[in-house]
Amino acid sequence: MSSPQLVVALDVPDPARSAALVERLAPLGVIFKIGYEAYYGHGQSIKNALRAAGASYALDLKLHDIPRTVEAAVHAIVEPGVRLITVHALGGAAMLEAAVQAAHEQAATCSMPVPDVYAVTVLTSLAVEDLGELGLSGGPGENAIRLAALARDARCAGVVCSVREVPDLKAFFGTEFGTFCPGIRPAGSAHGDQKRAATPREAREAGADYVVVGRPIVDDRDPVGAARAILEELAA
Ligand code: C5P
Repeated sequence: MSSPQLVVALDVPDPARSAALVERLAPLGVIFKIGYEAYYGHGQSIKNALRAAGASYALDLKLHDIPRTVEAAVHAIVEPGVRLITVHALGGAAMLEAAVQAAHEQAATCSMPVPDVYAVTVLTSLAVEDLGELGLSGGPGENAIRLAALARDARCAGVVCSVREVPDLKAFFGTEFGTFCPGIRPAGSAHGDQKRAATPREAREAGADYVVVGRPIVDDRDPVGAARAILEELAA
């Protein structure tokens, strides 16, 4: 089993700080995750920093709209360096297929590897009552599996999920179906708002493909040291 790929979530409001983190961490072979805060706040400057460092990144923009609009968005956001993009499985089969198709087309246009499309199934902030209000019967677990099947059938490369869900997802959909896992905390570090955190070692043992870590690296006084320690645990 290969080690999971470490993904550093660049959730910082300050473009200069993002750029410094990219410059220092890219040589370790990590990839980066750009979410709403960085993309909408200082997207161009962070993309410049990533390009200068030759770094790959995941664009966690959780696209969710009608198929034609998502297709156009994927054409607009995929450029060299983009390794992975996220979409909401609740956008439906046609929207997921449009995203995957557009990722292939845009990669061909840019002569770059095709970025993987990963689907968000059920947001971890939603409880069973919230799902009921949305008209979804059943709990988060069964909805997540149903939506993962929809994503797999639409040729998405995998799903965003917690480490705890990885073994079941791999058992249902096969080891090739990818897992992109936030909520990782090295043993002994603060959990912050992550309620069901897993350690890097647990992520490796569960077979996670991508391990997403934000605050334990970007808020550490020594981000390079923190990232190195996690990489060692992932490779052990
Ligand atoms: O700082 P931390 O390691 O908690 O960052 C985790 C990253 O993963 C954040 O960018 C957060 O938005 C994202 N994420 C998450 N839980 C999910 C989906 C995404 O923490 N269920």
